[in-house]
Amino acid sequence: MNNETISMLIKKANEARAKSYCPYSGFAVGAALLCADGTVYTGANIENASYTPTICAERVAFFSAVHDGHRDFTAIAIVGGKKDCEIDSLCTPCGVCRQVMSEFCKGDFNIILSDGVTDSVFTLDDMLPHRFSL
Ligand code: THU
Repeated sequence: MNNETISMLIKKANEARAKSYCPYSGFAVGAALLCADGTVYTGANIENASYTPTICAERVAFFSAVHDGHRDFTAIAIVGGKKDCEIDSLCTPCGVCRQVMSEFCKGDFNIILSDGVTDSVFTLDDMLPHRFSL
């Protein structure tokens, strides 16, 4: 991944984070998903009073992209932290989102995290070793 692409995705993830609906946790997450053709889809977490219908930022981005016909993905940037505050630590994707990534991505899919100062790039193989698939 080149630095320009990483910075662009983190910027878009931060913009998406501002759209988070998180009145219950107060934890706002944004994601920016890069498709193989260069299209970028964004998402933010959307919570619910009944808790379980809550959806993570990553899955909003993935499901929007898949619904539009995309199946090839290169990278996702994820940023999260206390709502209305600057992010100060890495927000790693939850297990459910890792499994969703696994459905559509190969092991070399890039997962970009930022704590606002430093960027870290992992692969899906790093984050979900021995993954389940059919
Ligand atoms: N959340 C995400 O959006 N992505 C993750 O990978 C971790 C958790 C959201 C779900 C919930 O709205 C809030 O963060 C606190 O768990």
